[in-house]
Amino acid sequence: MQNPQKTSKILVIHGPNLNMLGKRQPETYGKSTLAQINENLVRIGEALGLAVETFQSNHEGEIVEKIQQAVDSCRGLIINPAAYTHTSIAIRDALLMLDVPIIEVHISNIYRRESFRRTSFLTDIATAQLAGFGARGYEMALEALAKMLA
Ligand code: DQA
Repeated sequence: MQNPQKTSKILVIHGPNLNMLGKRQPETYGKSTLAQINENLVRIGEALGLAVETFQSNHEGEIVEKIQQAVDSCRGLIINPAAYTHTSIAIRDALLMLDVPIIEVHISNIYRRESFRRTSFLTDIATAQLAGFGARGYEMALEALAKMLA
């Protein structure tokens, strides 16, 4: 059951190298910068009555700590762990402490790329996964969370 003390804060976490969006392999990840994606999510969140906080880090431990801080403060999480998707049991363990919906987002379709990208340490503990919709995937995740929390 949802704790009524919790606010309608949605945390969006971006993993390593996503700070380079716009410049990083635009044929795979598109032309939008992370700042543009985040501004868009904050704006959509306002329209949906959700306070969106965004966070990016290139460091696994910082992502773990951000998830730990979210345990009592957020009502939903959107996470693109980037390369840590395929390696990080520490991020998986941190996510297991949350009792809110978790949406895993990938800009690219990780299932039609290198075989090592097909393994995610998150998918079986996430509420849902979106992959291959480009930056639109983040918007879809936020819209889905709004419905889940309504
Ligand atoms: C990614 C896919 C990962 O395999 C990759 O390491 C990334 C981005 C995506 O959004 O498509 O950095 O998570």
